[in-house]
Amino acid sequence: MKNKFLYTLFFFAAIVLALYACRHEILNPNSGSGNTGGGIPPATSSCSPDTAYFVNDIMPIIASNCTMSGCHDVASHADGVVLTNYTNVFRYVKPGNAGDSKLYKVLIKTGNERMPPPPSPALTSAQIALIQKWINQGAYNNNCIGRCDTAIFTFSGAVKPIMDGKCTGCHNPSNLGGNIDLSTYTAVRTVALNGKLYGSVAQQPGYSPMPKNGIKLSDCEIKQIQKWITAGSLNN
Ligand code: HEC
Repeated sequence: MKNKFLYTLFFFAAIVLALYACRHEILNPNSGSGNTGGGIPPATSSCSPDTAYFVNDIMPIIASNCTMSGCHDVASHADGVVLTNYTNVFRYVKPGNAGDSKLYKVLIKTGNERMPPPPSPALTSAQIALIQKWINQGAYNNNCIGRCDTAIFTFSGAVKPIMDGKCTGCHNPSNLGGNIDLSTYTAVRTVALNGKLYGSVAQQPGYSPMPKNGIKLSDCEIKQIQKWITAGSLNN
């Protein structure tokens, strides 16, 4: 009698476990990794130099090079691919395995198969390496603070890295979003002087909010740009 009870209990426990396993399988299309790609709010740890961060490093590259109109924004969804946020991007990665991730593989292809496709410039090797690192580290929806310092507001130390990381994919000579080039000092200075640079990144009324379809720059980055402009928009 006691045995029968134990068997019944065991039987139900097995069913519960099996159901749980199935549910887990459905929730985790990228099985074999710890990261299920959902439900993890961006963390806000202080930045480690050894880690690639989705919010700080990866989404800006994608927003600047992949989600412009005609490509992988919601309206255009070229090839059915939308890359406007973490959940969308996560569909094309195998956490822990960049070599097997579509997001990485298309970056290193040649000719017309490469993304972004010619005539757009390829991502730089540093950007490709960062995406590879992020995937191999588990492709988390991670975010860090403390990398930006408002005491630094030179062109080379602050403004150019922001432009290259978050803007030039849409604002270079072969892809002149809004007819604006942000790939050289002289070109950035032009929009600094006419007020459009600050107006757009601070997302003031009357300006197109930038980065378009992307995550707003941090308060620290906006401050760096403002201080650089106020100090004379120098090529320093
Ligand atoms: C996904 C593409 C994309 C990204 C990324 C992007 N821009 Fe733009 N930008 C555009 C387009 C397209 C326009 C034209 C206006 C519009 O469509 O909103 C534009 C317009 C502008 C303008 C003119 C705004 C105005 O009100 O006249 C400025 C200045 C500008 N961008 C600066 C930036 C800066 C600085 C960044 C990076 C922080 C950036 N953009 C990132 C696509 C982009």
